[in-house]
Amino acid sequence: MPPDADGKVQGLLAAAGAALRPASDSPDLDAELLLAQVLGRTRAWLKAHGEHAVNASEASRYAGLLSRRMAGEPVAYLLGHRGFLHLELEVGPGVLVPRPETELLVETALELVRARPAPLLLDLGTGSGAVVLALAQARPDARITGVEASASALSYTRRNAARLALADLELLEGSWYEPLPGRRFHCIVSNPPYLATDDPHLAKLAHEPRTALVAGPLGTEALAEIISRAPDHLLPGGCLAVEHGYRQGAEVRRLMQESGLTAIHTQRDLAGHERVTHGEYTNDPSSAQEPS
Ligand SMILES: C[S@@+](CC[C@H](N)C(=O)[O-])C[C@H]1O[C@@H](n2cnc3c(N)ncnc32)[C@H](O)[C@@H]1O
Repeated sequence: MPPDADGKVQGLLAAAGAALRPASDSPDLDAELLLAQVLGRTRAWLKAHGEHAVNASEASRYAGLLSRRMAGEPVAYLLGHRGFLHLELEVGPGVLVPRPETELLVETALELVRARPAPLLLDLGTGSGAVVLALAQARPDARITGVEASASALSYTRRNAARLALADLELLEGSWYEPLPGRRFHCIVSNPPYLATDDPHLAKLAHEPRTALVAGPLGTEALAEIISRAPDHLLPGGCLAVEHGYRQGAEVRRLMQESGLTAIHTQRDLAGHERVTHGEYTNDPSSAQEPS
C-alpha cells in the first residue's frame, strides 16, 4: 500500500482506493469494506470518523488484505461473506461468490411456483447455497433438494444452511441429475457454469473455482445437459429456469424447444442483458408455441 502520511481513516482510504484502482472495478468501495472489516466498524462509521487514527496492528492487517485484493482475490473472500437477497452467506476459496444477476433466477423461480402449494423444487449446482437457501427462505412450505458436484462447494452450502437455520433441505453430492434417478419436481432451477474455455473474463476470475465457471469449449455444455434431461425430472406442468450468459439466450431457447418445453421466455437483468430463460413441461407437444 502506498505510504499514508498520518495513519488516519480518511488518508488510508484515499491511498488504498488509488492503489486498488488497477485491480478492481470498485476500488473505493473495496477499500472501505476492507477497512471496516479490520476495524470492526461499519462503512457509515468510517465516513463519520475520517480523523480516527488506526493503530499499527490494524494498519498492517489492512495492508495485508489490500495486497491480496491487488493480487485479484475477490473482496468477498477477504471479508468471508457476501449478501444475496435477504441472506448473508459465508464464502471463500472453493466456492463461487454469488452474483447479483442470480437474484433474477430466484425471483423468476418464485414467481413460477407462486400459486403452487408445497412445491417440490430442485437447484442444480448449489455452490454457496445462494439459490437453494433463498428459495427455502421465501418458501418454507416447499420441499427443496440441491445437488452439487464439488465437495468443497457443498460444504459451504451445508454450513450456510445450518447457520441460517434453513437446514431442512435435501443436499446431495453428485453430477446434475445423477443422484436423482426417477425423481420429478415442480420446478428445476440452475445457475450452471456457462463460460467457454477461452472466455477472456476468466483472467479476472482466477481465484474462483474453474468448475463453477467453465462449461467447456462452447460454454453451453452444462446448460445443454441440464435442459435435455429436464423432461425426465419434471412433473407435468413443471418448469425449468436457468441462468445463462448474455449472448446465450437464443441457444438456450433453442435447447428448451428441442427438449419439448413450452411457454419459453427469457428475462433480462438490470443491465438489460438476456440472463434467465424458463420453460414449462406439459408433456403435450400440441401446446408448443414460439419462444419469446
Ligand atoms: C455458477 S456456480 C453457481 C453457484 C450458486 N448456485 C450461485 O448461483 O451462486 C455453478 C455451480 O455448479 C457446480 N457444478 C459444476 N458442475 C456440476 C455438475 N456436473 N453437477 C453438479 N454441480 C456442478 C459448481 O461446483 C458450482 O458450485
